[in-house]
Amino acid sequence: MSLPIDEHVNAVKTVVVPAAGMGTRFLPATKTVPKELLPVVDTPGIELIAEEAAELGATRLAIITAPNKAGVMAHFDSFPDLEATLAERGKTAQVQKVRRAAELIKAVPVTQDKPLGLGHAVGLAESILDDDEDVVAVMLPDDLVLPTGVMGRMAQVRAEFGGSVLCAVEVAEDEVSNYGIFEIEADTAEDDVKKVKGMVEKPAMADAPSRFAATGRYLLDRQIFDALRRITPGSGGELQLTDAIDLLIDEGHPVHIVVHKGKRHDLGNPGGYIPACVDFGLSHPVYGAHLKRAIKQILAEHEANDVSDVK
Ligand code: UTP
Repeated sequence: MSLPIDEHVNAVKTVVVPAAGMGTRFLPATKTVPKELLPVVDTPGIELIAEEAAELGATRLAIITAPNKAGVMAHFDSFPDLEATLAERGKTAQVQKVRRAAELIKAVPVTQDKPLGLGHAVGLAESILDDDEDVVAVMLPDDLVLPTGVMGRMAQVRAEFGGSVLCAVEVAEDEVSNYGIFEIEADTAEDDVKKVKGMVEKPAMADAPSRFAATGRYLLDRQIFDALRRITPGSGGELQLTDAIDLLIDEGHPVHIVVHKGKRHDLGNPGGYIPACVDFGLSHPVYGAHLKRAIKQILAEHEANDVSDVK
């Protein structure tokens, strides 16, 4: 039995985590290891997301998973034999590490048989939401938005303006073509909140309507499910979540962004994953100091090589 919605801080009971993608940018690792289980230092990205969802006040993590990615759900199981062996050997800190994911939140599987797009994946979550849930919180496990807490701010904005609230970060002009970019209305009372007029996928620099790029955090009104049923598949036969959001905007549904001022790491490709590991590694109480020295040495070696290449 789940708790009623009014017993949840921020009025969010379920966080939906789409994790059924193919992870092609991480091949060959993702032949057998789901991208969501790749460790940031020692903790899989999906456990970091579970932590953020629990911090938001959610009690259920609806993981959209693919038939060949059983390891993702297994990460939230209990491991009594492993725990017993570790306990016998006095490794109590490791026992805590093994238990942590399952203790954070209740993970519920939703199977997406084929990777038919993020919109399709989110649409599947409708079947597990309770009647008292009028918002769909979605967190992409590819995206780390730090420090955590932006979803709490987004819940405040939804309480004030209604509708749906997304998260954005301001990117450099020459990076706009890598992201979904928001077209915004000129003025909203609060500095970190903007009303959205539309979205453009990966625009050329000259065509970008702003420098506010979408990140993987969404608080969507339940009407999104109806919109997802009314859109048609886009490129590659995939149902795009942004198309459904665009449809809602066209129909007058209020959509705002919260502009996040902190960091964002994109774990979805090696080029973003490696800096995330370095960032977390440098702050790590055990590995940080050594890593800092190692990175300085690696940089010095590379710079020396670059200089000798030039000669
Ligand atoms: P991405 O497009 O970034 O992930 O989708 P991907 O498809 O796994 O990666 P590449 O492009 O092949 O390297 C964003 C999020 O949506 C999920 C992914 O698992 C990822 O967390 N997703 C995507 C689904 O759950 N189902 C889909 O059909 C597509």
